[in-house]
Amino acid sequence: MGAEAVGKKRVMVLGVGAFTQSMMRRLREDGAEVGAYLTRDYAHHGPMSEGPCVTAAAEPDPCPRLRRERPDLIVPMSIEWALKPWTDEFLSLAPPILCPTGEGLRLERERDFARALCARHGVPFARAWTVATRADAERIVRREQRPFVLKNPLCSPTSPIHTIVCESVEDTLAWLPRLDDSEGIFLQEYLGRREAGHIALVSAGEIHPLVTNQEYKRAFDGDLGIVAGAPLGGLVERDPHDRYGLVRELLAPLRPWFREVGFHGPVQVTAMLHEGRWHVLEYNVRLGVTSGPMIARMLAEPLGTFLRCARDEPIAPRWRDGLDFGCNLTLAGYGYPFTQLTGPRVPVTVQGEPTCDVWWQEVEARDDGVLEATGHRICDVAAIAGTLDEAIATAYANIRRIRSLGSYHRTDVGKSLWPPGNG
Ligand SMILES: Nc1ncnc2c1ncn2[C@@H]1O[C@H](COP(=O)(O)OP(=O)(O)O)[C@@H](O)[C@H]1O
Ligand SMILES: [Mg+2]
Repeated sequence: MGAEAVGKKRVMVLGVGAFTQSMMRRLREDGAEVGAYLTRDYAHHGPMSEGPCVTAAAEPDPCPRLRRERPDLIVPMSIEWALKPWTDEFLSLAPPILCPTGEGLRLERERDFARALCARHGVPFARAWTVATRADAERIVRREQRPFVLKNPLCSPTSPIHTIVCESVEDTLAWLPRLDDSEGIFLQEYLGRREAGHIALVSAGEIHPLVTNQEYKRAFDGDLGIVAGAPLGGLVERDPHDRYGLVRELLAPLRPWFREVGFHGPVQVTAMLHEGRWHVLEYNVRLGVTSGPMIARMLAEPLGTFLRCARDEPIAPRWRDGLDFGCNLTLAGYGYPFTQLTGPRVPVTVQGEPTCDVWWQEVEARDDGVLEATGHRICDVAAIAGTLDEAIATAYANIRRIRSLGSYHRTDVGKSLWPPGNG
């Protein structure tokens, strides 16, 4: 049943930037009336060019608006909606949000909860410890004599720790003194670089595999540089039959728990191939910022599918023909990935008409229409196609048309890491 058949549905996207712009565009094309609640004070240009938006600064509490507008679907970019002064009131409205709530949300929010859940269900999870202080962390590193990835125990965009990937014991000991341990530290054994992910929808107690994905998290070509705050590139492959086994090994064993807690919404697993087996690094419970827009493009009826998933009804995702792969490239601006460095508002220009999606991040339009860079991530360029090579070629042909002084992008997406399991 198409969304059209049940009348015009109202969608509210919670977020900013490329994710929000892309969801608004795609769900509008699929028949929805779309709007956005801009949760952060940057990256407004993209969403505002798609439809009505209200900012959290102007309206700190979205609940009165939700009561008035009664959206049929709420699509969040992040789990920060669960950490607001208005969260309880929001939940009391039984919002049709595309994200699990309550117990299900803990899968992303609390890293140690995910670890313990995996242990209970026999899912390999990279060995990890949650500690209260840097001194406790140091004791574990010295005792184990292994490198650790340093993470926040509780996930939120405002966490005092952002993931630092250390590759030796010395690296780990060198970084530890720099950490803010006010929320504790999650130490996770470093498991190498053979990374992949899978995104599925869970609804009415069933897992629906969607895509296997790969993110290029290192800042520079050749997988050099630090693991940046957000990826520089991403590939997705339509994978409802779980070609790479991530669903079978890392999601399916959680089915009893999904059912027990009434989990419904997206679930993404990020994993590393280690000693011949996939090991979980983390779970996310929302559509990812790079893969979400491509998934919405690849699905034949994203609106109906997401609506039913938000209501925990049975779903049967359908796909658009011949769009099996997607490639997303980020144009990073001056200073990225070292976000302490900032540059002036230089112009951003696009030569000709793009032949794939260009989703704007941190740019603003001047009165004369010229775009200016206002932050570290300028835009995401996303192409979908019948083959991986075609998706990659289209994305590159388009990102090369966008110019902004000091900007850069990775030129080797697809040349390393893919297919899943490669290092
Ligand atoms: N245990 C690990 N071993 C190797 N690399 C890791 C490990 N944990 C995380 N990473 C790298 O850091 C990235 C971010 O870590 P992740 O756990 O996904 O946290 P977040 O996305 O919340 O920053 C991963 O995608 C992966 O590239
Ligand atoms: Mg992650």
